[in-house]
Amino acid sequence: MTDLTTLEADVLAQVAAAGDLAALDAVRVSALGKTGSISGLLKTLGAMSPDERKERGAAINVLRDRVQSALNDKKAALEAAALDARLASETLDLTLPAPHRRRGSVHPTMQTMDEMIAIFAEMGFAVAEGPDIEDDFHNFTALNFPEKHPAREMHDTFFFNPKESGERMLLRTHTSPVQVRTMVSQKPPIRIIAPGRTYRCDSDATHTPMFHQVEGLVIDKGIHMGHLKWTLETFIARFFETDAVTTQFRPHHFPFTEPSAEMDVQCDRSGGEIKIGQGTSWLEILGCGMVHPNVLRACGIDPDEYQGFAFGMGVDRLGMLKYGMPDLRDMFSSDGRWLDHYGFSAFAAPNAASGLS
Ligand code: PHE
Repeated sequence: MTDLTTLEADVLAQVAAAGDLAALDAVRVSALGKTGSISGLLKTLGAMSPDERKERGAAINVLRDRVQSALNDKKAALEAAALDARLASETLDLTLPAPHRRRGSVHPTMQTMDEMIAIFAEMGFAVAEGPDIEDDFHNFTALNFPEKHPAREMHDTFFFNPKESGERMLLRTHTSPVQVRTMVSQKPPIRIIAPGRTYRCDSDATHTPMFHQVEGLVIDKGIHMGHLKWTLETFIARFFETDAVTTQFRPHHFPFTEPSAEMDVQCDRSGGEIKIGQGTSWLEILGCGMVHPNVLRACGIDPDEYQGFAFGMGVDRLGMLKYGMPDLRDMFSSDGRWLDHYGFSAFAAPNAASGLS
């Protein structure tokens, strides 16, 4: 008769010696598998007398349970060791410098535009919009441009090929066509700003073929130049976050305003940097004026009953001034390093409560 104690010692020694999960499984099959040594013993019980079977059967079951639990323990130990080895081989040295990963940011032009919208919204202006592709009527004719005005010429305006009707669409050269669209579709009083893209065939340090403007339009009874001046001076002080900004109005000409003016901001340009609120230089930032009676008439508004003022300012230029960028063209060159440096967090949305910049 097989000596159970010897068999147990033998199988347990094999379990202890198994170096990996495959070897351990082979030991399990050889002892507890269908034709394994312990399973073989259980098969001999049938030929025994009931008394013998009772005693011998109990002993074999004890042996089987001991072997099974030794197999379980060893399996758990081998798995833990395998995991430890894997963790050791896959370690990551967190003390090494992390590789540079560019994160998206809000473009300074968009941040500046949002700041401007926040300030004008606080002053009671609503936002209006118009299409980038305009027709001659909205961009020029309704704005009182004479037929042969130089701004209609090819060197300033991007024209599309003529349609069959002969009409030439164009990329709007300013946001002023939104004035026309608003006056045609709304009744006074009107108080809107129109932020958007504009296009002119021009490129140097302070001009890009595509740039951004914020147009402003106020139409009501008894509106005069004083309202215009207060609105713009209040805006500039809020935008640059200082009351120390000095501005000047210079007479100018626009076909759609009369009188017309340009507004300059006093600044210091010594030392290759532009500083606001000091210095002896002036920088032009916007065009403005009282809406021309011909424009009001073209839009179906009686100039004897209503007056208004309008202005158009360069968003990119104002951003450039506020955030100290030396060249306007860099703004649209999609250079990741430039965007890293000048971009804004998407969580820094300007509003009157938490600050504008
Ligand atoms: N549209 C003018 C420009 O682009 C600016 C302007 C707007 C001037 C409104 C007067 C009134 O230069």
